[in-house]
Amino acid sequence: MAWIDSHTHINDKAFDGDINEVYKRMLKADVLRAMVVSLNVEEFYKSAAFKHPGLLFDLALGIYPGDVSQMDEKTMDQIYDLCLNDKRIKAIGEIGLDYHWRKDNKDLQKAIFIKQIELANKLHKPIIVHTRDAVKDTYDILKAHPVKGVMHCFSESKEMAREFVKLGMYISFSGTLTFKNAKEPKEALKVVPLDRLLIETDAPYLSPVPYRGKRNEPSFVAKTGECAAQILGIDPLLLQKQMAANYQALFLS
Ligand code: NI
Repeated sequence: MAWIDSHTHINDKAFDGDINEVYKRMLKADVLRAMVVSLNVEEFYKSAAFKHPGLLFDLALGIYPGDVSQMDEKTMDQIYDLCLNDKRIKAIGEIGLDYHWRKDNKDLQKAIFIKQIELANKLHKPIIVHTRDAVKDTYDILKAHPVKGVMHCFSESKEMAREFVKLGMYISFSGTLTFKNAKEPKEALKVVPLDRLLIETDAPYLSPVPYRGKRNEPSFVAKTGECAAQILGIDPLLLQKQMAANYQALFLS
């Protein structure tokens, strides 16, 4: 058994110089699998090339809320075809709403989010949801458009965690869980059923303690896992096993 980073962006240019070192540290930290998330089709082609002996990379592809202006019928067809042809694509994402980034195109963001949920359902794939300053609209859309998926890098209240769990969603926590002053994610973690929990890095940003301020990378997910186990008062190996089962249930079955 090993840790899994359920959401990483090693396709980011922050990793262009030393990806082989990143692989080695994954092996050393016993982080043997990761979901490489692409924000657009261009990134997907870069992500499809990642491989290393002893490591497994799954792929996710979706149009990020920040990139919705490039979403058209042609891109939608392209994503559909890629999903049919590349079995490593396990999810549509990350998709969702980001009103922190832009408030002036909310309707377009919502429409593209819904279209991609429909695409995921057509392909029988789960979604990876990004939401920022948009939790109510995100919830309303997920409620109206049932789909399997995960709320990635969860940073909402415990009340909202409960509501998303009721919709059938998984909840994934990132390195922010390890920050001393981060009360909200710690509280939210405690209300999520163990069989709906995932952990991630969302690398290259928001490294967990003790790497705060450094570039984040998949090997660091072990620290977030250990911290989660401590908050929950359970054996880290038990949590590790549960995370692997959850990842399997959501993305691989
Ligand atoms: Ni991300």
